[in-house]
Amino acid sequence: MGKVENPFLLKGYAGPGYFCDRQEETALLERHMRHGQDVTLLSIRRMGKTGLIQHLFYRLNRKKEFTCIYVDLYASQSLQELVNLLAGAILQVFPEKQSLGKKFLNLLKGFNPVISYDMLTGAPEVSLTFNRPQQQEYSLRDLLFFLNEQPKPVVVALDEFQQIVSYPEKNVEALLRTLIQPLGNLRFIFSGSRRHVLQQMFSSARRPFFASTSPLHLGPIPDKAYSTFIKKMFSKHERQIRDEAVEFVLDWTCRHTYYTQAVCNRLFSLPLSEINLADVRQACYGLLLEYEDTYLQYRNLLTKGQWRLLWAIASEHTVTQPTAGSFLRQYGLGSPASVKRSLQALEEKEMLYREVTSDTTAYRLTDCFLARWLEHIRMPV
Ligand SMILES: Nc1ncnc2c1ncn2[C@@H]1O[C@H](COP(=O)(O)OP(=O)(O)OP(=O)(O)O)[C@@H](O)[C@H]1O
Ligand SMILES: [Mg+2]
Repeated sequence: MGKVENPFLLKGYAGPGYFCDRQEETALLERHMRHGQDVTLLSIRRMGKTGLIQHLFYRLNRKKEFTCIYVDLYASQSLQELVNLLAGAILQVFPEKQSLGKKFLNLLKGFNPVISYDMLTGAPEVSLTFNRPQQQEYSLRDLLFFLNEQPKPVVVALDEFQQIVSYPEKNVEALLRTLIQPLGNLRFIFSGSRRHVLQQMFSSARRPFFASTSPLHLGPIPDKAYSTFIKKMFSKHERQIRDEAVEFVLDWTCRHTYYTQAVCNRLFSLPLSEINLADVRQACYGLLLEYEDTYLQYRNLLTKGQWRLLWAIASEHTVTQPTAGSFLRQYGLGSPASVKRSLQALEEKEMLYREVTSDTTAYRLTDCFLARWLEHIRMPV
């Protein structure tokens, strides 16, 4: 791992020294992997799912008890792309020059593989050619069987798993489930942020993956753990951040991991030996100004009703009854039916999310900075 200039990472994973808490979640995942229990890892965007998987893999790799394969399905649009990504991820763990890598390449030969290496990261990229659609299924089966035959148990993380629902092939879910079920040497982590899509997949009795995994809902890092981490990162570099400044950061970002990291990263980049509350306020304001153009673009991309509803929810922070008459009147939102439509569209776009407890459903904005920016906007009612 290269030298890290700023300890508050905004992407990637650089080892446990830059990773805050998640002890319980990591221990739980490790236990599940050890006992052959597949997991669905769920959270809203940017809460830390990928980071947690990487942290888990770092620990498992160090213990050398498991082989860990990470596949990011975010950009994939078909079964063929899933197969290519899985093949690339396997090749990354079993490089071409090693005997298992050679064995793996041999297996790919039947599918005319073209292998290239990413110019920036050096990660292998595989492109297989299929003459008949059925060959995609065969190749997927072969890749999974190859992993199943490894001497150590294999953990396969399929990040952004909800993507498979949008593939043009309609049977991917059933196919994967059928292939995976008998493979005792594999454990899976299915991860994603589109909760209702994933929940449908894993909790509906009519779906192939029904009740096959243990769900893990990832929430914010606890207050105490995050503030200790932030102060430690500054003091390690012989710098200070005052308690009230840390409190403000955690409160302003609602401990939503990416946004907390982004503010801390910005604060760390200031040439100051001590950070106080005024510095934090100024940095937060500066960040919002930087994003302003993007937010104005959002306004152009959404309908008037959606934009107004987003503003209304941001102004309230959390809304439990978005179709209540008082809320509609206060923010000039029109009819309950149009608000319902807007809610659905904004949830689809992952701009809003629903926090469901046993007795309430609360709506909030997914993007913490957008929420803070909208709070300060005045709109005529
Ligand atoms: N425990 C942690 N300690 C410090 N930084 C973290 C931690 N977890 C995640 N991060 C950082 O927070 C940001 C968001 O994390 P990550 O990408 O893992 O979220 P995600 O839930 O996978 O997001 P998405 O839904 O967009 O894929 C990243 O910058 C990551 O480096
Ligand atoms: Mg992620």
